Amino acid sequence: MRIAVLKEQAAGETRVAATPETVKKFIGLGADVAVESEAGTTASISDAAFSEAGASVGSRAEVLKDADIVLGVQAPEASSLAGAKAGAWVAALFDPFSKRELVDSYAKAGFEALSMEFMPRITRAQSMDVLSSQSNLAGYKAVIAAADEYGRAFPMMMTAAGTVQAARVFIMGVGVAGLQAIATAKRLGAQVSATDVRSATKEQIQSLGAKPIFVEEVAGIEGEGSGGYATEMSDEYKAAQAKLVSEHIAKQDIVITTALIPGRAAPRLITDEQIATMKPGSVIFDLAVAQGGNVEGSKPDETVVKHGVKIIGYANTPAHLAADASALFARNHFNFLSAFWDKEAGKPELDEEIGNAVRLTQGGKVVNERLTGAN
Ligand code: NAI
Repeated sequence: MRIAVLKEQAAGETRVAATPETVKKFIGLGADVAVESEAGTTASISDAAFSEAGASVGSRAEVLKDADIVLGVQAPEASSLAGAKAGAWVAALFDPFSKRELVDSYAKAGFEALSMEFMPRITRAQSMDVLSSQSNLAGYKAVIAAADEYGRAFPMMMTAAGTVQAARVFIMGVGVAGLQAIATAKRLGAQVSATDVRSATKEQIQSLGAKPIFVEEVAGIEGEGSGGYATEMSDEYKAAQAKLVSEHIAKQDIVITTALIPGRAAPRLITDEQIATMKPGSVIFDLAVAQGGNVEGSKPDETVVKHGVKIIGYANTPAHLAADASALFARNHFNFLSAFWDKEAGKPELDEEIGNAVRLTQGGKVVNERLTGAN
């Protein structure tokens, strides 16, 4: 059983899909691990560290030769995997809804694409969930980046020269990233409020010491779809939410938006009109900027200034914390494959529930129900 770890090819990707820690663990299960030279450099892991952990380090062709499993952060082009075994598994982020051609090319090449973002949201898969592990770090980084752009301090400070007021921070979307953003902003001493369409988040916001801002009057709103994800909301709800947000946002210094709906463009949460009501010098960090953006006018990796308000957002936020993001991503990969490791066969055998959820291609075909529309 040979596991190949490749150097990421995507622009701006600094993460790596394995660490010396997970290499050792895979070897402990009886696998051989081969790591492409320089794969860990941007995540502060040297080739020597991978070698010391027991991996063989070599060129892409050497590493791929006879590989049974290829681990990646972002899925490589199928055409760049020459040398891997027929039917080899490739576990990585595939972004399957927007990169259908990539998925088709995996089917054509005869590889089994395992999409880490399709990990089901069930308790036993929590430790395998890359969306959670990466969102958590992204929520933290969004607050730090916004604080850095903000021309004032976060905590209240009483000094001999007078008092500095605490910053008001509003978090929109309280999933994994939003919860971490609330916690980070609180730790920095800001006054924090937050909103979400899922009413279950109200208590979570309060338990972190922040103030929930919720649409109360619209009947029949739960906002929660399958697997704890948000659903698309009614027009009535959207109008009520926009009104509430407009009133609240004018008083905020920092806004962090994190709202996503799986398989769709990110919902628009802040319009240009609303930005115009904010104070000059305020900062908005749009964590959904790469999925279409929650904020009107936001652009990936650019600072857009509108009405004196800075709007920022990274195309790939976890890549700004490459070492920690890689460590968690690598553990997610290990937790996933090791949970299904068949000691006698010396390789993993996925069970039906998780296997069917993450497998995109098999036997030359696209097999995932979320893509074939068979469910
Ligand atoms: P996400 O990244 O899909 O969305 C971020 C947040 O935006 C969500 O809380 C969503 O409700 C909210 N949102 C969507 N549309 C909105 C709108 N129009 N206005 C305001 N907010 C909006 O969500 P994430 O972070 O992946 O987590 C969703 C839930 O899944 C959480 O309850 C989390 O605890 C749960 N979860 C469970 C896992 C497991 O059991 N294995 C793993 C990961 C998350």
